[in-house]
Parts: sequence; C-alpha cells; structure tokens
Amino acid sequence: MEIRIESLDKIREAAHEFVASLGESTVYAFYGKMGAGKTTFIKAICEELGVSDVITSPTFAIVNEYRSDTSGEIIYHFDFYRIKKLEEVYDMGFEDYFYSGALCFIEWPELIEEVLPEDAVKVSISENADGSRTVSF
Ligand SMILES: Nc1ncnc2c1ncn2[C@@H]1O[C@H](COP(=O)(O)OP(=O)(O)OP(=O)(O)O)[C@@H](O)[C@H]1O
Ligand SMILES: [Mg+2]
Repeated sequence: MEIRIESLDKIREAAHEFVASLGESTVYAFYGKMGAGKTTFIKAICEELGVSDVITSPTFAIVNEYRSDTSGEIIYHFDFYRIKKLEEVYDMGFEDYFYSGALCFIEWPELIEEVLPEDAVKVSISENADGSRTVSF
C-alpha cells in the first residue's frame, strides 16, 4: 500500500489512513534516509492513536514510551540510529518490547535487522522532488 503525504498540514490525514490500515502486526519498521520524515510521521500516527504526550525521537534512551489517552494502550517508539553494537539492543531487552503485543514503531531498523521480528511490517518513507513524502508498506 502507498500513502502520499502532500505537505506537513496534510500529515494527520495520512496518519489516519495509515492507522486505518494497521493489521494484526504490532511491530512497524520505518526505513528512510535521514530527514525523510520518519519521526514526523510516527508522531502523527501516535497523535492519531490518542497520545497527547510530546512526541520526539528517543535520542538518549533508544526507546520512548507513550500511552494513548483514548485506548490506554502503550506505544513504543525506537530510534536505533546511535546503536553501535547489537549487544546494546540485547542489553535494553528488546524482546520484552517487540513481543509485548504493544505497538512498536522503529526508526533505523536496518541497524537491528537481525533481531527484527519476522512479522514486522516494513514501511518506507521517501521524499519526492516537490517535498511531498511517499509512504510504502
Ligand atoms: N511529510 C512531510 N512534509 C514536509 N516536511 C516534512 C514531512 N515530514 C518531515 N518533514 C520535515 O523534514 C525534516 C526531517 O523530518 P524527521 O525528523 O521526521 O526525519 P527523520 O526521517 O526522522 O530523520 P532522522 O533519520 O534524522 O531521524 C523536519 O524538518 C520535518 O519538519
Ligand atoms: Mg527521526
């Protein structure tokens, strides 16, 4: 499936469309170059799911935890950009998150590809020449 984000002011509509197409899988791996819009789209998705916390990329902690005000469900947001060794991922107990049944949104999954669950949904975000984004999954 493909969703086009025409501009930042249309991102909630795109996130709504994405949420509507969520299937059984709980782990979503967001691929895309630096600045492609991974954090921005994950933030919009979390807002769409009822999270009212400030959503930023988990720079220091690798993972941020949010709770939806509407469903009460927990959502985990990972950024593995700064991972140097897979050992760090084992040390943080990634399995407890990935197999918790809670929604997991992952930035820079290519750095932890070996431990990504088999049923993780691969989502690609790319910037088009006109600044719009294309989300494919
Ligand atoms: N759909 C969009 N339309 C227009 N601008 C966007 C869109 N998504 C993100 N941007 C802009 O692009 C910049 C980078 O976005 P963002 O931080 O989400 O990228 P990223 O993929 O998470 O990057 P990184 O790999 O560094 O984590 C921001 O200035 C953001 O405002
Ligand atoms: Mg980011």
